[in-house]
Amino acid sequence: MKLKYSNSSVFLKVINFIVLALFLISSFSCDKKAAYKEVDKAKSVFLSGEIIPDSHFLGDKKCKECHQNEFKKWEGSHHDKAMQIADSISVLANFNDQKFTSQGVTSHFFKKGEDFYVNTDGPDGKNHHYKIVYTFGITPLQQYIVQFPDGHYQCLRTAWDSVKNKWFDLYPDFKVVHSEWLHWSRGGLNWNNMCSDCPFYKCSQKLRARNT
Ligand code: HEC
Repeated sequence: MKLKYSNSSVFLKVINFIVLALFLISSFSCDKKAAYKEVDKAKSVFLSGEIIPDSHFLGDKKCKECHQNEFKKWEGSHHDKAMQIADSISVLANFNDQKFTSQGVTSHFFKKGEDFYVNTDGPDGKNHHYKIVYTFGITPLQQYIVQFPDGHYQCLRTAWDSVKNKWFDLYPDFKVVHSEWLHWSRGGLNWNNMCSDCPFYKCSQKLRARNT
């Protein structure tokens, strides 16, 4: 079949349009590549592995010297109690031989003398005893932190509902196996990187900026 003149000119216009569109798309994608900048590792809190030395920790009494009013308001507040050493006063949960099962993992919460323990699955997929060293939060929930031998602090995925007074799974519908990053013993629930970095980093940056 022969194309009529008008039809073939429409056909050429369509071809021209496609060529132009392809040219534009390719030149935009080149621009994107040129604009790409690598993340500055020194400035990114998520990539920084810088360890803050203990000698940089002043303690709250030091702040009180100059910030008396702020200290009074802060003392005893939820911020003050956000992270406490686990003891009979700070721990809100029931550790009297309580068992909680979720996603095929049973955690056993118990006490040994004055100390609080959990038996749950570790990074090797086997159950171990872990001593609770810190509490995290008060209400509506309290989480519990375990210290690993390599200095990592890990937050358990089973937490205490301090409103309904019961143990619960932070991810009730989500199975995580021991080898995954999201397992409580690994990166996803690592206190050092996921919790402590942001507030302390930003605060210290601000203070450093003021002091220079
Ligand atoms: C030697 C006195 C002194 C000590 C000790 C001190 N500060 Fe300050 N701080 C100041 C002064 C002065 C300012 C500036 C106040 C202003 O700009 O109004 C300030 C500002 C701040 C700010 C910024 C407030 C804002 O509005 O941006 C924060 C946060 C802060 N201090 C926290 C702390 C903490 C936490 C500690 C303890 C670890 C501490 N300070 C210890 C004197 C002190």
